[in-house]
Amino acid sequence: VRARASLIEPDGGRLVELVVGEERREAVRREAAAMAAPLRVRLGRVETEWLHVLSEGWASPLRGFMREAEFLQALHFNAIRGDDGAMVNMSVPIVLAVDDAQRRAILASGARRVALVDARDRPLAILSDIEIYKHNKEERIARTWGTIAPGLPYVEEAITNAGDWLIGGDLEVIEPIKYNDGLDQYRLSPAQLREEFARRNADAVFAFQLRNPVHNGHALLMTDTRRRLLEMGYKNPVLLLHPLGGFTKADDVPLSWRMKQHEKVLEEGVLNPESTVVAIFPSPMHYAGPTEVQWHAKARINAGANFYIVGRDPAGMSHPTEKRDLYDADHGKKVLSMAPGLERLNILPFKVAAYDTKQKKMDFFDPSRKDDFLFISGTKMRTLAKNRESPPDGFMCPGGWKVLVEYYDSLTPS
Ligand code: ADX
Repeated sequence: VRARASLIEPDGGRLVELVVGEERREAVRREAAAMAAPLRVRLGRVETEWLHVLSEGWASPLRGFMREAEFLQALHFNAIRGDDGAMVNMSVPIVLAVDDAQRRAILASGARRVALVDARDRPLAILSDIEIYKHNKEERIARTWGTIAPGLPYVEEAITNAGDWLIGGDLEVIEPIKYNDGLDQYRLSPAQLREEFARRNADAVFAFQLRNPVHNGHALLMTDTRRRLLEMGYKNPVLLLHPLGGFTKADDVPLSWRMKQHEKVLEEGVLNPESTVVAIFPSPMHYAGPTEVQWHAKARINAGANFYIVGRDPAGMSHPTEKRDLYDADHGKKVLSMAPGLERLNILPFKVAAYDTKQKKMDFFDPSRKDDFLFISGTKMRTLAKNRESPPDGFMCPGGWKVLVEYYDSLTPS
């Protein structure tokens, strides 16, 4: 009970959980199943991932897909006002689009509730007290990414072909969202993570968001954080190693391979399994840099983390049409340290880590001897692995690297 009380409070004070209780499940399912076609909104991959995110309270205090007031606050303030009047961080819109024909049909029916269904028309949830409003895609994209350059992965996947209207409301989700891909046991909800941290008697929880394989530079950020927390007097800091599990761009390493890679990192002792919880964060990836990293951090408060590690160019990517990074590599950590609604979270900003060719290991970049350092980018890693070449010793644990070589091998047609 003591450990539980010491975890950081969720945003809004109470963790939102939107999966209906067993006793209501069949009734809600029957109601949804009985709804006529125009009142059935079909969710694509990304929308289903957001349904999952909302259902477990990662976006607490949000209780469903955003209505217009929430959408505007998220877009313009990167934060929304909770019921208690306090602003909580919310930097990306979590919205559901419908096309013009469906909007007209829903409005004509006078319905206040619609069913959300999967690709095979099976009901997943009911959205109630609905509100339909304009989906101004250009403005949404410009404000979220700071650019409308063509080729933004999330935009192409989930916005370009989406409807011109957004439908918001409160959610009742029929049952926990599962993917049946062999990884569901890693998809711990915020409530389950909080239980796990309490069970382990954690007196500090530090989260590490990632979408890439763990190299020894990443590991350095995590082990250095643990050292600092112990120095600060914490007795049992627990690491949440929290790979993102939703939509990622085509040239990122798929989740199943990353999970195998992370397993090796723990097996080979790069990270200590005793003080680490590995779980999957169900959100899709925006690649919206300083705007998105706020969402990444905020969601982890709800899961019980009170420390958040941030390094170089979080949630960043190359500019889709120009030869440069889309975002300033230092802006993510600067923005996060100042973000409205994240005051309760301890941000741990880190300098960039690179391969020190003199020491033959990953270390924090020292500009006074910059020629000793080698920056091994994702692209460079891919090229090495594809050509079955090895990275320099000390870049990544051997077992972890082997997983990547196998992955790139599996892509090459035989
Ligand atoms: S992210 O999209 O999840 O941010 P990635 O998996 O590459 O991408 O990064 C995970 C975390 O590690 C982020 O906080 C990022 O800033 C940090 N990071 C990645 N590479 C480095 C590096 N070489 N030096 C310092 N921090 C890094």
